[in-house]
Amino acid sequence: MKTIIEPFRIKSVEPIRMTTTAEREARLRQASYNVFLLRSDDVLIDLLTDSGTSAMSSNQWAAIMRGDESYAGSPSFYRFEDAVRDIFGFTYVFPTHQGRAAERILFSLKCRPGDVVPSNTHFDTTRANIEFTGAKAVDLVIPEGLQPSTVHPFKGNMDVAALERLIGETGRDRIPLCMLTVTNNSGGGQPVSMANVRAVSETCRRHGIPLYIDACRFAENAWFIKQREQGYGEKRPIEIAREMFRYADGATMSAKKDGLANIGGFVASNDAELAQRERNLLILTEGFPTYGGLAGRDLEAIAVGLHEALEEDYLLYRITSTTYLGTHIASQGVPIVQPPGGHAVYIDAAAMFPHIPPLQLPGQALVAELYREAGIRSVEIGTVMFGRRDPVSGEETPGPMELVRLAIPRRVYTQSHVDYVVEAILNVHARREAVRGYRFVEQAPFLRHFSARFEPL
Ligand code: F0G
Repeated sequence: MKTIIEPFRIKSVEPIRMTTTAEREARLRQASYNVFLLRSDDVLIDLLTDSGTSAMSSNQWAAIMRGDESYAGSPSFYRFEDAVRDIFGFTYVFPTHQGRAAERILFSLKCRPGDVVPSNTHFDTTRANIEFTGAKAVDLVIPEGLQPSTVHPFKGNMDVAALERLIGETGRDRIPLCMLTVTNNSGGGQPVSMANVRAVSETCRRHGIPLYIDACRFAENAWFIKQREQGYGEKRPIEIAREMFRYADGATMSAKKDGLANIGGFVASNDAELAQRERNLLILTEGFPTYGGLAGRDLEAIAVGLHEALEEDYLLYRITSTTYLGTHIASQGVPIVQPPGGHAVYIDAAAMFPHIPPLQLPGQALVAELYREAGIRSVEIGTVMFGRRDPVSGEETPGPMELVRLAIPRRVYTQSHVDYVVEAILNVHARREAVRGYRFVEQAPFLRHFSARFEPL
């Protein structure tokens, strides 16, 4: 059979509401053209994020009923810890309310002002949590990772020679840890090869620098390794994931992605001394170490979800549907980051709107157009998210790329939803020359994309 189907039946449905163009125009204006400020009721197909938006399985819902809400020592925690240890292999596992809480705990204990933390590409919360400690977050993705149209099987790889240079220039003492984001979300959801994980790990170990994996999409990364890397085709995704984490000293995880849960995360390592300090900080800000800011039922949902995310039928469907969206718009001339990522398709807004310069926010323009056209919500990953405004001069520096991400929630939308999205994008593409840029009218000093207000030019 050639047709790859959704490997599930639908037991419970959630209605979505059609809106008129006039309604969407009004909502967009009320939201100051920032789709984070829309009400989700006014969104038809929500591709803002794949985070916390998964549909849970009947097994996860069954596990939720088993959730034990004891303050300390809940069996739900031990099932969660077993699942994490089974896949990730780390000794010390602390639940957190989501990924950024794990990051805050890790970085606030490891980083000092003037330190440097390399990664392939830091996600925005990772970068912000590092910078909040006074340390510097440095992106060292391979050059291909910054070229949207270049096809490369592992565009999320870190440039190992650049890492060596950074360590030489900065000195090992100023690098408290190295991160590797799998898949590389801010670089197009592109995977990291096992060979690269191994090489980065070897470099870090030689210099005595701990390597942490930002593991949000570890199962999707494992699937790409299975498909694209020699020697892994016959291995099960769980075996590939276990090998990946053997090369690392720890991990931070947002269970809202490949945990197939609606909330949760964890920080894990083999470092007993660090774990003790993490435990103390966790109690101060998240909760007792056997719940870490989560309900027992959430821990149960994650324990089941982590293994479901590694099932082959699921991963085949998952990656195929993202690829379907990417190849159908690309074949009609829409410039996308090639090849399509695991959890998302990234449109190159700079290439789609060559008449809109970076500081006129071409990505923001496309995000607004997709909502106006068809009620689709996407997210800008360009100058709004990664550009900088000099606090003194007010001068704006553009981000490295002008991308718009269409993130696909897990197990939520069907093939016809994806076909509708394809049609909407092609309609906007057909009238691209008439689309104009935007400017900021209000912005916050950190993570400005969440709350910024815009005006059309
Ligand atoms: N690391 C990566 C690579 C991420 O993609 C995210 C979240 C986080 C860390 C933080 O996790 O949201 O649970 O605190 N990414 C979401 C997204 C928000 O839309 O890509 P969190």
